[in-house]
Amino acid sequence: MRLHKFLAAAGVASRRAAEKMIRQGRVKVNGETVTGMGVAIDPAADQVLVDGKKVALPAPDREYILLYKPAGFVTTMSDPYGRPTVRDLVRDAGVRVFPVGRLDMDTSGLLLLTNDGELANRLAHPSYGVEKEYLARVKGLPSPDVLKRLEGGVELEDGRTAPARVRLVKGGRQNSVLSLTIHEGRNRQVRRMLKAVGHPVTALKRVRYGPLTLSGLAEGEWRRLSRDEVAELSRPAGGDDGRKR
Ligand code: URA
Repeated sequence: MRLHKFLAAAGVASRRAAEKMIRQGRVKVNGETVTGMGVAIDPAADQVLVDGKKVALPAPDREYILLYKPAGFVTTMSDPYGRPTVRDLVRDAGVRVFPVGRLDMDTSGLLLLTNDGELANRLAHPSYGVEKEYLARVKGLPSPDVLKRLEGGVELEDGRTAPARVRLVKGGRQNSVLSLTIHEGRNRQVRRMLKAVGHPVTALKRVRYGPLTLSGLAEGEWRRLSRDEVAELSRPAGGDDGRKR
């Protein structure tokens, strides 16, 4: 396997950025710095270090499932009250996975499930900066001033929220639809932000998680991520590939 392809598949950087890292002398194969292009490695036998850190492909037994969660399902693998859970929805995958983060019972949309604890921990960490985009149906018509407040950060009882991207998708006197992109993941954050500015949420759906969208899935359906998608998800925000998340 070509070295830059291996680095991309391992989630270090995009192929192009991986080539640059190689040229910069940041990559060692079996203890030797490699700067030439087109070097081939054996992922099973060769040791690859980037900036002194060992790099490996995801283990073959790792599972990554993207679920379009309907409202009315609890984000847990077992509920003491016997309510419907996301486990019921992915049971036919036949693998043991657990949710990365959480959607409220009454929130629908994109939920990632995996048995890759390391990636799950990284994704859950705010410094990783995964963007989460929500469509929120709210009461009333938020004014431009309200949209600005949401963008700048809203004071909640657990502190001010980080800047968000906000767009009025559909405005109406009774109800409106907003798109909100945040990278924090506090408990019921979107609902609390919108309530704080006087426009309570009546329906909430997560439509994007980092590079992943719901495209092609119907409510209640799931699919496995491709290797490329896992690699893309593994790249840190603002990483060396220079792309924004
Ligand atoms: N924000 C919320 O309020 N609820 C969710 O489920 C996700 C984000």
